[in-house]
Amino acid sequence: MFKYTCLNPISQVGLEKFTGNFSKTDDIKDAQGVLVRSASMHDMEMPEGLLAIARAGAGVNNIPLDDCAKKGIVVFNTPGANANGVKELVIAGMLLASRDVVGGINWVESAKSEADIAKMAEKEKKKFAGTEIQDKKLGIIGLGAIGVRVANVAKHLGMEVYGYDPYISVDAAWNLSRDIKHVLDINEIYEQCDIITIHVPLMDSTKNTINKEAISKMKDGVIILNFARDLLVEETAVLEAIKSGKVRKYVSDFPNPTTAGQEGCIVIPHLGASTEESEDNCAKMAVKELMNYLENGNIVNSVNYPNCDMGVCTNAGRIAIMHKNVANMISRFTGIFGDLNLNISDLTNKSKGEYAYTMLDLDDPATDEIVKKLEAVDGVIRVRVVK
Ligand code: MLT
Repeated sequence: MFKYTCLNPISQVGLEKFTGNFSKTDDIKDAQGVLVRSASMHDMEMPEGLLAIARAGAGVNNIPLDDCAKKGIVVFNTPGANANGVKELVIAGMLLASRDVVGGINWVESAKSEADIAKMAEKEKKKFAGTEIQDKKLGIIGLGAIGVRVANVAKHLGMEVYGYDPYISVDAAWNLSRDIKHVLDINEIYEQCDIITIHVPLMDSTKNTINKEAISKMKDGVIILNFARDLLVEETAVLEAIKSGKVRKYVSDFPNPTTAGQEGCIVIPHLGASTEESEDNCAKMAVKELMNYLENGNIVNSVNYPNCDMGVCTNAGRIAIMHKNVANMISRFTGIFGDLNLNISDLTNKSKGEYAYTMLDLDDPATDEIVKKLEAVDGVIRVRVVK
């Protein structure tokens, strides 16, 4: 029996997927699994028994990934599960920035007690007129689950779409419309596009991707959309560029003191993935990942350990080892089994950056002796008897 805890409210539709082998606890100290949305885990003490964290969402900047890896805690996210929700709001953001719908609604509110509001509207409306998005050039930085969906729908809306992603996955490439112009140099996006939207994860290397220099290369009157994370954009530079007329509108899904209420900024309270459907989808995927890892040792959609899937164990025993990605680890593991005259019936080893994961299926049940010997190997972080 495994215990899990939720650090944020998680959709019931997802929690209902837990089988009878799992029960909920309110104390993280008792939990092997954690489900989290936006709660920051950076200053949280990770209990020793904690094996996995599943983030019901895509961004994982609220979780200390490397610290978790060092402690043998696997962190999962739910790529694509909320992509449709975000995509729909990106399209809404693009329309709100192109036509001054917000200004128009505010004007109606301010004139609501005027008896001749209908006549006044016909006179005032030119202040809020805008442009259409058809035939405009849309530049998409990052073609993951969200970027690809935005690209495809924008193409259907008659836009000319430019996509930039040096790390595009095979899956994403398969899903991308062939009409999207594949850009190899990000500057081409900056120089050519009327509307630019960013869809990359926030990491040290992606902070301030859209900075003062990038903005200086953009067309006059460009619209910038940010539904990924605020720190991806140097927002003080955006405000200056709004004042100078370089940037027409900045649409952000991340309110903060820099942009909230500022002229030219349309700021939304992080609603991209806050739909019923997205929350259900993320919770279902997160629960599935957590169960699969805790019950079978399989890693699917981890952000700090390699993916590794050996299915359900049909052998007598299964051991999972989290270790440093260094030379000679496998020979040392297999040597231990050889010395004990134990047969390994199946073995998978995968690595991701500094960390690696080895799963071994055994003809005999795992013993404490095997575990102790494996734990003693230099570079081993954690040994789990899965079965
Ligand atoms: C995500 O990272 O998945 C979205 O920003 C939504 C969220 O943070 O929950």
